[in-house]
Amino acid sequence: MIVCVCNRVSDREITRRAQQGCSSFDELQMATGVATCCGRCEDCARAVFADASDGGWQRLDHQPALMLAAAA
Ligand code: FES
Repeated sequence: MIVCVCNRVSDREITRRAQQGCSSFDELQMATGVATCCGRCEDCARAVFADASDGGWQRLDHQPALMLAAAA
């Protein structure tokens, strides 16, 4: 599926970049241009990247309300 319409970046490409050693979302943006135009894809792109790179802790990091709910 296309995650970033502005730059035609797919979930497969994000996953591939993560698996090939892309270590941060900033680095992913530099390599692909994802979430660098309108920004509407950023949440989805971050979620796909987090799932592909480390099991999802980065996604939780960007949703502190979920972390608080999980701790309660
Ligand atoms: S859809 Fe990704 S920057 Fe616009």
